[in-house]
Amino acid sequence: MINLNNLILDNNNKTSGLNFNKSENDKKVYIETYGCQMNYSDTEIVLSVLSKSGYNETTDINNADAILLNTCSIRENAEKKIFYRLDALRYFKKRNPNLVIGILGCMAERLRKDLLENKKIVDIIVGPDEYRKVPQLIDNVFETGEKGIAVKLSKVETYDDIIPIRRDGVSAWITIMRGCDKFCTYCVVPFTRGRERSRKLTSIIDEAKRLYDEGVRDIWLLGQNVNSYKFENYDFSDLLKQVAISVPKMRVRYTTSHPYDLNLKLLETMAEHDNICKYIHLPIQSGSDRILKLMNREYSVSDYMKVMHKAREMMPGIGFSTDIISGFPTETEEDHKMTINVMKEVMYDYAYMFTYSRRPNTKAFRMEDDIEPEVKTRRLDEIIELQRDMSYESNKKLIGKITNVLIETISKKSDDYLMARTDCNKSVIIPSLPQKTYVDKSGDLILNNNYKIGDFIDVRISKCNSATLFGETVE
Ligand code: SAH
Ligand code: SF4
Ligand code: F3S
Repeated sequence: MINLNNLILDNNNKTSGLNFNKSENDKKVYIETYGCQMNYSDTEIVLSVLSKSGYNETTDINNADAILLNTCSIRENAEKKIFYRLDALRYFKKRNPNLVIGILGCMAERLRKDLLENKKIVDIIVGPDEYRKVPQLIDNVFETGEKGIAVKLSKVETYDDIIPIRRDGVSAWITIMRGCDKFCTYCVVPFTRGRERSRKLTSIIDEAKRLYDEGVRDIWLLGQNVNSYKFENYDFSDLLKQVAISVPKMRVRYTTSHPYDLNLKLLETMAEHDNICKYIHLPIQSGSDRILKLMNREYSVSDYMKVMHKAREMMPGIGFSTDIISGFPTETEEDHKMTINVMKEVMYDYAYMFTYSRRPNTKAFRMEDDIEPEVKTRRLDEIIELQRDMSYESNKKLIGKITNVLIETISKKSDDYLMARTDCNKSVIIPSLPQKTYVDKSGDLILNNNYKIGDFIDVRISKCNSATLFGETVE
């Protein structure tokens, strides 16, 4: 399972080789996904669409008839990474001239046919609202050698009827809305993902129930701005409530919420239902009202603080994470200090921190990118260092406490440990000793004889570092 801690996954994570429908056409597709959780969720949709047309997924790039990169445009570096990757893929194309190479996702939408013209090895370009056409476009290259492009943005496409092909695991994403109408001045997403539209409430509920039956115990309702969810008369709080009631033993989370739209009704809904996680990813971006205005974020620092304090008053112990951009045009040392002060006041459990990257077509592109790269980096380093200290402090507070965790996977570092997660989204390493894992007669993986992946158990936190908690099981 991909690390859900990362809102932005710039890493080159690969899907895990799902063997879907036996092939009609024997063709194998290899997909790499970059960017945010929406992209990972979309890859699951693409896999589903491909499987219906008889394609198989391979995790061995050497074996692939088609290589697809599901790409991200959020910062210049995210795009650079794809250009390097395309250079590396030349080797595969040389070895197999029939190999189809495709660019999906936000770069496909942003760069469109420029990509086909500038990158000769690319055969197909497919934007986020045209994934139903992926098999047809690949077929066409195989059959006629003709390159293809499908980048229309839709006002209605939600892939409602498509059952995503997911990785095994106890966590799953459910995309509830697509697009973004916020137009923060620095951000490409409204251009790459188009207008906001929401998925049918009943189809979300059905998906949640089906996932529970399949063994999933933790769902993330996904959208660039989930608070904008609107279907018939239902808003996001209504949806969240319905989901929480429909799958009462499932942990329910959501991301991302915009501070402007986070209202009392949503906080009340969270407080009312035990299975809605007490954790909010609430990006502040900057601690300076002047910069927030330039970013078109539509809230002031004091609005943000009001929401945060209210949430803490209603749900003591609630976790907060955030996104911060350092070095937005005109940001002064004073503005930067304000961001540092806000971070100290909120005491975030986690933060995703970036230097500003100037993106074509955005409103901020017209502003001079006037903060020297060294200054941006130095400010970012200060922010990162402060966050590390605060994450450590927030983790230390849990030492000695008993907390309920969901066991998610075997620890990456050792089979003797398991990785579990708290309600507040903190990972906890617990021993799987004294009995190691074994497979029982029915083929189930048994851990420690008492608990297994997918179980909720109480653990006592014994130690921590800034990123991870360590716990012991409570008899
Ligand atoms: N919809 C989400 C964020 C999506 S993008 C929200 O509004 O919270 C994730 C994060 O990337 C943003 O919150 C922002 O911090 C960062 N980001 C977006 N555009 C950026 C840019 N041009 N330069 C640097 N960081 C950026
Ligand atoms: Fe980008 Fe703002 Fe939309 Fe988030 S809310 S995706 S930062 S435009
Ligand atoms: Fe990147 Fe597109 Fe997500 S730009 S952050 S993959 S919506």
